[in-house]
Amino acid sequence: MSTILITGANRGIGLELTRYYAARGDTVIACCRSPEQADDLRQLKDQTNDCVIIHQLDVTDDNSIAALKASLGSMAIGILINNAGIISPEKQSTREMDFDGFLHTLNVNTVSPLRMLQAFLAQLKASDTPKAITISSYMGSFTSLATDRIAYRTSKAAVNRVMCAAAQDLKSDNIIIALIHPGWVKTDMGGSNADITSPQSAAGIVEVIESLNIDKTGGFFAWDGSELPW
Ligand SMILES: NC(=O)c1ccc[n+]([C@@H]2O[C@H](COP(=O)([O-])OP(=O)(O)OC[C@H]3O[C@@H](n4cnc5c(N)ncnc54)[C@H](OP(=O)(O)O)[C@@H]3O)[C@@H](O)[C@H]2O)c1
Repeated sequence: MSTILITGANRGIGLELTRYYAARGDTVIACCRSPEQADDLRQLKDQTNDCVIIHQLDVTDDNSIAALKASLGSMAIGILINNAGIISPEKQSTREMDFDGFLHTLNVNTVSPLRMLQAFLAQLKASDTPKAITISSYMGSFTSLATDRIAYRTSKAAVNRVMCAAAQDLKSDNIIIALIHPGWVKTDMGGSNADITSPQSAAGIVEVIESLNIDKTGGFFAWDGSELPW
C-alpha cells in the first residue's frame, strides 16, 4: 500500500485517480481548494473507510502549501500527482491575449508543479520508490501545429521542460519523474465530446505510473502507455 498526494482531487481526472487508488486500499491525500464544497470527494471519503484524507490546498499559494506540509509532518509520500490545472483565459490567441490570465495559467500549470515537488521532496525521499508525476498535455507538444489556446499550450510545454530538468537533478535521489498526457477526457475541461471517460483515463494513468522505473525518468507518456514527442 502506498500514500499518494493528488492536487485538484475534487473533480475530473483528480477525483477519478483518487477513487481508483482508494478502491485498492492506498491512502490518498486528496487536495482541493474548497473542501467544504467538494461533495463528491467527501462522499468518496465516507465510502472508502477513510482511505481518503482531504486537505485544503491552492497550488499557487505558498502559505497553503506550507500548511499542508506542516500537517503531514514526516509522512512518506510514494507518489505525488500534480494534476490541478486550468485552460483559461478566454482570450489567448496571437492577436488577442489576456496577459494577466496567461500569467495565471503559467502559475497554476507550470510553476506550481515545481512548487509542490520542492515542498514535498523530503516526504518523497522518505518513500522506497518515490514518483513525482505531472499531468501534462499533448497540446504542449511542439509537434502539434495548432495555434489555439496559446497560454495553455505554452504552460504545458514549459512544465514538460521544468520536469525534464527535475528528472536529471533528482535522479541521484532515486525520484522518478514523469509527464503524462491523460487523453482527451470528458471532464469540465475536456467537455462532453472528448474521446474517453475519466475512469478510463485514470486507469491508464495508474498503469503508466506503475510501469515507471528510474530508466524512464523524465519521459513524456500518454495514458495508453505510448511515449510522446516533445
Ligand atoms: N480533460 C482533458 O481532456 C485534459 C487533456 C489534457 C490534459 N489535461 C490535464 O489534466 C488535468 C486535470 O484536468 P481535468 O480535465 O480533470 O480538469 P477539471 O475537471 O477542470 O479539474 C481541474 C482541477 O484543477 C483544480 N485547480 C485549478 N486551479 C487550482 C489551484 N490554483 N489550486 C488547486 N487546484 C486547482 C480544480 O479545482 P476547483 O474545482 O477548485 O476549480 C479542479 O479540481 C489538468 O492538469 C489538465 O490540464 C486534461
